Amino acid sequence: MERVQKIMAAAGIASRRNCEHYIEQGLVKVNGKIIKLGDKADATKDVITVEGTPLSLPDKIIIMLHKPTGYVTTVREDHDMKTVMDLVKVPQKVYPIGRLDKNTEGLLLLTNDGELANRLTHPRYEVKKEYYAVLDKPVSQQTLDKLRKGVDVEGRKVQFTSLSVLKNQVTLSIHEGRKHIVRKLFEKVGLQVKRLVRTKIAELELRDLPLGQWRELKAEDLRKLQTGR
Ligand code: URA
Repeated sequence: MERVQKIMAAAGIASRRNCEHYIEQGLVKVNGKIIKLGDKADATKDVITVEGTPLSLPDKIIIMLHKPTGYVTTVREDHDMKTVMDLVKVPQKVYPIGRLDKNTEGLLLLTNDGELANRLTHPRYEVKKEYYAVLDKPVSQQTLDKLRKGVDVEGRKVQFTSLSVLKNQVTLSIHEGRKHIVRKLFEKVGLQVKRLVRTKIAELELRDLPLGQWRELKAEDLRKLQTGR
């Protein structure tokens, strides 16, 4: 449930402030009843009209979230854990594209566009993802050589597009979507991941999006997602 002025603004009616004026003037109805300021609705179920015209939400949206640790990547609500859905409040029914572990931070995409979600997660087109990891110990030359050769995790080698190391800090790019893959990879060479941040998907970067905040992708961002394979 969202405040109706927020849903109206997302549908491009006017600014949120001006949408509040519409509500105050009694021009907005939910399921046929005039509402008052502060009332909430579910844009996926309720019929919202403004001066008799039903709202239509922009169909497809894609969002980037700077996920903090402590949030689970799921749309399920049947547990006590905080989920990424608690951070992204949009009227459309979006869901995460792929996943990040509860204790991983960084770039997570959410959408209601199934085709796009499929394209970004399907193993055949698996896009490149960049991670920054802080490990419990510095990476020795011997370990670095092992990593560069490709480490076998559960029967399949993890190959890097790039790998750079500074003592116990590593930046790596992989085309993998397997669960816990980065943590498992370092475990295989005797290192433990203390902090993990996804910094980039294809050519789309987190940049200065504050922790816990989200924004809708712009055309330029979408280009970065689609060309950066
Ligand atoms: N690899 C991991 O181990 N965890 C993540 O959250 C993402 C990639």
